[in-house]
Amino acid sequence: MKNKMVIVGGQPLYGSVRISGAKNAGLVLIAASIMAEGETILDNVPRICDVEVMIEILNSMGVKSGWNEDGSLSIRPPAGDMGIKTPDEMAKKLRASNLFLGALLGRQGEAAVSMPGGCDIGSRPMDLHLKGAQALGAEVEIEHGYIYARTKAPAGSRVYLDFPSVGATENIMMMASKTPGQTIIENAAKEPEIVDLANFLNSMGGKVRGAGTDIIKIEGVPVLKAVHYGIIPDRIEAGTYMIAAAITGGEIQVENIIPTHLHPIIAKLQETGAIISETEQGLLVKAGERILPADIKTMPYPGFPTDMQSQMIALLSLAEGTSVVVENVFENRFQIIDEFIRMGAKIKLEGRSAIVEGTPHLFGARVKATDLRAGAALVLSALAASGTTIIDDAIHIFRGYESIEEKLRSLGAIIK
Ligand code: EPZ
Repeated sequence: MKNKMVIVGGQPLYGSVRISGAKNAGLVLIAASIMAEGETILDNVPRICDVEVMIEILNSMGVKSGWNEDGSLSIRPPAGDMGIKTPDEMAKKLRASNLFLGALLGRQGEAAVSMPGGCDIGSRPMDLHLKGAQALGAEVEIEHGYIYARTKAPAGSRVYLDFPSVGATENIMMMASKTPGQTIIENAAKEPEIVDLANFLNSMGGKVRGAGTDIIKIEGVPVLKAVHYGIIPDRIEAGTYMIAAAITGGEIQVENIIPTHLHPIIAKLQETGAIISETEQGLLVKAGERILPADIKTMPYPGFPTDMQSQMIALLSLAEGTSVVVENVFENRFQIIDEFIRMGAKIKLEGRSAIVEGTPHLFGARVKATDLRAGAALVLSALAASGTTIIDDAIHIFRGYESIEEKLRSLGAIIK
């Protein structure tokens, strides 16, 4: 996989782009599939590096998984026990490998998952995941960078999440689906990917109620059967292409989206002057005459998504005025700011806030992607900048954006 992207900016982008399946739904449904008896088939899973790593992990643990001719993904766990340990090297590459904790405990009452490395957006603790596992009867030890969990007498329980963690909510939902009795998750995450997981588990014979609200109730069942299921479209990929229209002064139709998942992004883009209308196929986003400043506070869903924070800063760095962007979800998600400044952006950091003073132009430069969404934000800045931008460590971008170069070229971008 190449690790560099070269973009010649300055062209308004026009055309339509089909949004792929949601990375963060695909990753958790792949993990959940190991709890099913039989072959699970998932449609609309994006072919991105993170998904390929999850498939590698599955196959190293005795699960047969791979892509079918029609582009769907098959997952066939073994009839008997499968491995309980995620392989260290692969698991370290991908925080989402921590989702095997709940899936393995749900499937066979035992799991050993690698403590996810802290990455460039903060320490990424697991305390709420472990609080949930222990509440449902697991004994947990942490040794040599691994979390070992085993349930002696699994039983449903009530778990209060101090923070509506997406991953912790998902791990508890998966474990509880196969744990006898009722489990109640309070202050649960409400992201659309949580609802997709609940719908998936229920289609397998699970009993999950309340997903999308902050109270989720789960009745454990003895068996979950394998199903054929299509995952939701990626709201963050969609939001990224919507900003591509606004930042380049063009007009893009994003297709195969669920508008309600995009409400926070639509509202904020309209505040910056973008003109957004619903069409048969999706949403039409037209750049406004000018880019207006707007203040952003990232929050758990249905607040403004943290995964769109860097992309918004790219847009606001070209606004006619000053914007304040507050990151409330991760404690350190401003790594990318220095790279924006190298392109001419005027941004000051003050604790959890980035003060973005808009400027009329950005200039191509050599920059480095620090994480997936930051990399996407650099692509947006490069599309709007005059001159050529070279993005190093572009591998981060390919982790989460299916066919991004082809999709951007089809909209008129010049990418080498
Ligand atoms: C999921 O990560 C997403 N990843 C992230 O998307 C997304 O940014 C994040 O949710 C928030 O929406 C996947 O779904 C694979 P969290 P997750 O647990 O589950 C704290 C992307 O680019 N926390 O909701 O790891 C944590 O420190 C990625 O697609 C605890 O304190 O996020 C953070 O500050 C990036 N203790 C906050 O919660 C815990 O036990 C949100 O984390 C767990 C989390």
